[in-house]
Amino acid sequence: MEQQKTVLLGVTGCIAAYKACEILRLLQKAGVRVRVVMTEAATKFVGPSTFEGLTHERVLSSFFGEGDDPIPHINLAHEADLFLIAPCTANTLAKLAMGVADNLLTSAALACTAPVMVAPAANVNMYCHPATQANIQTLRDRGVKVIEADSGYLACGDEGKGRLAEPQEIVDEVLRQLGVAKGDMQGMKVMITAGPTIEPIDPVRYITNFSSGKTGYSLANAAARRGADVTIVSGPVAVDAPVGVKVVRVQTAQQMFEASEREFPNADIAIFAAAVADMRPADCAPNKLKKRLDAEALKAIKLAENPDIIASLASGKTKQTVVGFAAETQDVIENARIKLEAKNADLIIANQVGNGRAFGTDGNEIWLVGKEGTEHVPFMMKPELANIVLDKILQIRACN
Ligand code: C5P
Repeated sequence: MEQQKTVLLGVTGCIAAYKACEILRLLQKAGVRVRVVMTEAATKFVGPSTFEGLTHERVLSSFFGEGDDPIPHINLAHEADLFLIAPCTANTLAKLAMGVADNLLTSAALACTAPVMVAPAANVNMYCHPATQANIQTLRDRGVKVIEADSGYLACGDEGKGRLAEPQEIVDEVLRQLGVAKGDMQGMKVMITAGPTIEPIDPVRYITNFSSGKTGYSLANAAARRGADVTIVSGPVAVDAPVGVKVVRVQTAQQMFEASEREFPNADIAIFAAAVADMRPADCAPNKLKKRLDAEALKAIKLAENPDIIASLASGKTKQTVVGFAAETQDVIENARIKLEAKNADLIIANQVGNGRAFGTDGNEIWLVGKEGTEHVPFMMKPELANIVLDKILQIRACN
């Protein structure tokens, strides 16, 4: 039997410290032993007894007076198959980059010969500061795996990059590094269309929709974490590209069609999560149309139909499992059934839109509409939903 792996989890002092508890639980769920080392500041955010309760092991934050081990940093470092520092503050990043060893955590990092991973978390200005970015680069150059912070609302009220990456994403990366990842999509090629398309009226105006790309990107992230080789064909979005995923950026439906046409033949699984504009202005004016001078032209914009990407590609499918989406305001399941047929898909993921539902949100309630029937999946966060959708796709492939 394979020996149980040990992760040394370093927790530093910032508001995201509470998320280390979830990281710890997810690692334990995956069969990993976790030992925790904290900075003094981290203990002000989450008490060591919380981690001791979860690990049933001594949690250390100081060289002195916390146990009978005279050289705790060396022994902690020796035990580790991997040292994960999450969350890692800008301060600890700086110390690691400089090789400072002024507390138990940074000393253990210096003494550690196992792979080191850091998941930074900081206020957007601290994170984007050239000093922090240079420290991150120094660590990368030294072989430290850096799990980039996400963008979003930060605890301090600012918005931007600096939020700790999702615990599941961090844990998946750790498991991959340890060679114990789930990997049930290893060797599979997955293409995913995501986000909106934009259809120009003139050089400064366009038609688009509210799609944020979060669903497609969550699916891409989950598939990559499960070992798949993933390409996203993406309309303009503000979401960060998941680690290890190739992104082909497009703007219009026609460009998305052409990029998808190139990716589709090699794909084992093709997921069409993009909200493609069905229509585009028939002609894009070469110059900005003027409100007064071109009022008639603006009022009479003619529309032309865009290619239906999924229907067009799925009509010639060979080995691909084809998955589409149906965002509906009414008769959700009935409409999804019609789409399953019309688009020659193997699965349609149906959801209700309107009144703030689905578009741009972090969670969703969906129905999985397949040839064998319909399954309801209650409201949950998009990363969790993504794994349920992938489970379903693998189940369909296993039956074919
Ligand atoms: O027909 P409808 O737009 O409602 O179908 C939605 C599904 O079709 C989604 O999977 C979407 O990504 C895909 N689609 C497409 N090309 C279009 C329109 C929709 O691939 N032009």
